[in-house]
Amino acid sequence: MAITISYTLFLILYIFPSHFDTSHALTCSNHKFTYRSTIYTSCKDLPHLSAQLLWTYNSTMGVAKIAYRARQGAGGWIAWAINPNQIGMVGSEALVAYVNSNGSVTVYPTMITSYSPSMLPADLSFQVLDLLAEFLSNEITIYATVGPFAGGSVVNQVWQAGNLVIDGVPQMHAVSQQNLQSTGELDFLSG
Ligand SMILES: *[C@@H]1O[C@H](CO)[C@@H](O)[C@H](O)[C@H]1NC(C)=O
Ligand SMILES: *[C@@H]1O[C@H](CO)[C@@H](O)[C@H](O)[C@H]1NC(C)=O
Repeated sequence: MAITISYTLFLILYIFPSHFDTSHALTCSNHKFTYRSTIYTSCKDLPHLSAQLLWTYNSTMGVAKIAYRARQGAGGWIAWAINPNQIGMVGSEALVAYVNSNGSVTVYPTMITSYSPSMLPADLSFQVLDLLAEFLSNEITIYATVGPFAGGSVVNQVWQAGNLVIDGVPQMHAVSQQNLQSTGELDFLSG
């Protein structure tokens, strides 16, 4: 009897966090650091939108290989951006990805020039190589090699997610606390 009770308690304690605390469902500690031949040396759990950034930084070249991974269902979109000019959304230069109805993932760079950007593909001010994305278990991951950046290893990053894509155009995201606070400084050297 005592064994049955403690087993039940264990299950409850164990299951509840993983099912209901989605902010911790996706963490650096429960994901592999390798993708194809890339081994990421750093990983950071981002404080909002169930997202994480993995990277390897080449300080000689000022270039970062990144993997941005975020929870998102099919039908929605995710984006990870660097803002070379200021903190916040406007002026940021984004990599955006969404899942098509046939299961393939579209990923492309776009410039966030205003609070209602076109979201059309555009060249960024910094180099983007090897851009691709995948969708697995309700997570979209964007892979890219980015940089060098004017400010060296320190950048302003912005990340975002929205639930709707119409005719290939990601639509406005929600304006909850999470969506408005998903920005911050990142130093590729120190994390
Ligand atoms: C950085 O990139 C250069 C050029 O590709 C390469 O020669 C060098 O070994 C790289 N450094 C590191 C630490 O990977
Ligand atoms: C899947 O859909 C996308 C968007 O419509 C299209 O570009 C792509 O070619 C399709 N892929 C396959 C394998 O049919």
